Amino acid sequence: MTRSNEKNLVVGLAGFGTVGGGLVRLLQENADLVRSRCGRGITLKKVLVRNTAKARAAELPAGTELVTDPAALTDDPEIDVLVELIGGIDHARALIDRALDQGKHIVTANKALLAEEGLDLFRKAARKKRILRYEASVAGAIPIVEALKESLTGNRIHSIMGILNGTSNYILSEMTSNGMEFDVALQQAQRLGYAETDPTLDIDGHDAAHKLVLLIRLAFGVHYPYTALSIRGIRGLSGMDIRMARELGYRVKLIAQAREASGSTQDQVCLEAGVFPALVHHKYLLARVGGVYNAVRVEANAAGSLFFHGRGAGDLPTAGAVLGDLLAVAREERPNNTGYAYSDLPKACIVPREEWHACYYVRVMVEDAPGVLRDLSGCMAAEGISMAQVIQKSDEGQGAPLVLMTHETSAQAMRDALQRAMDAGLLKEPAVYFRVLGGQQGM
Ligand code: NAP
Ligand code: HSE
Repeated sequence: MTRSNEKNLVVGLAGFGTVGGGLVRLLQENADLVRSRCGRGITLKKVLVRNTAKARAAELPAGTELVTDPAALTDDPEIDVLVELIGGIDHARALIDRALDQGKHIVTANKALLAEEGLDLFRKAARKKRILRYEASVAGAIPIVEALKESLTGNRIHSIMGILNGTSNYILSEMTSNGMEFDVALQQAQRLGYAETDPTLDIDGHDAAHKLVLLIRLAFGVHYPYTALSIRGIRGLSGMDIRMARELGYRVKLIAQAREASGSTQDQVCLEAGVFPALVHHKYLLARVGGVYNAVRVEANAAGSLFFHGRGAGDLPTAGAVLGDLLAVAREERPNNTGYAYSDLPKACIVPREEWHACYYVRVMVEDAPGVLRDLSGCMAAEGISMAQVIQKSDEGQGAPLVLMTHETSAQAMRDALQRAMDAGLLKEPAVYFRVLGGQQGM
């Protein structure tokens, strides 16, 4: 039975761009569904933008007002929920702070804000007994926030590994499958509404890192400061490495990973966490995640392995996640913002990046001369690195690319071995090296 005469949930929307436009459309297209799911309708009362004259991708319903003054949203006593879709840190923070002060619930897709200042906001929302929901902030349409916050809470999570940035994955897929240039692929991602306003956040790995911080909180119940993460993006990635990886049976992917290190206890979880491009074996499901799709693989003590896959960016996929959050608010669910009984999450114990162990792909440009391979092997052996495979390509004028696939070693040993090779004059330019994930496993 529906609670059909209940008062509509009244929403103030900040931002009428890609995601805001998608939400405006979806609120109208799915109005019947909304009512049947939660017994009440959702009224979009006001939409905040910077420029009221700009053409919009969706039409506002009759009666919805376009405004430019943030106070028109935050201080309107009829508005129950602020949906923040303007992005960025300072304005978004001020808007949410004010809305919480005015007793409003919050729905946001702003991973940058939540990663960098989320703990303050969670504390404030808890003090004010308000709901702060953020499903759309990680992996677009994939319901990973709720999965970790609700469905998987009976599990201890051991690791999370995923592709969390749609723009980078789109660029890598286009470079791999269609031989597209990096810049052209980035422009397309921007045109399709996947990229951040500042796309360096996407290509330098920061957007994926913001999302990883949120997943770490949800999965491990600890705060891993964004600034402590090891972050490397896909800027400058060369077509040569993408081709070489393909020849070896791998795809290059931007991976976000957090896993419990050995020595973790029930009381203290030590984490290896970072964002980095990696060679992923083509049989691994993550290697097959193409275009704007994202994926998250979760290892949990009871469930075992789980694999979530879906569109990571774009108007409707993201707006669907925002609308799901609005429905939860409309159902007047009890706030469960962090997924834990407390909002002051303890700081994570951090394993230094140098201590991580992995297999590596290393490409070096060397003189095509006798003894070079022997000397290079000597540098690796001196740091205890054992090689699994060596491939030499013919010299095409700029030196001969030599690819080494190593057995597992520490990041520190790898760095030291390459420094030895550089100091010995063996390398014509700094080596390019990536971690290698997956052998023959199906996931
Ligand atoms: P967008 O297309 O650039 O739209 C931003 C909107 O916010 C615009 O309507 C803009 O107004 C408005 N705005 C920006 N600053 C404002 C301010 N200071 N005051 C008032 N209005 C302001 O951005 P988007 O792609 O929709 O992303 C919005 C948020 O969702 C971001 O946090 C982003 O990280 C997140 N997100 C995006 C996606 C995606 O696929 N795009 C997916 C998941 C999460 P004008 O139109 O007047 O300029
Ligand atoms: N710029 C982000 C991406 C949007 O490309 O994944 C979704 O969070």
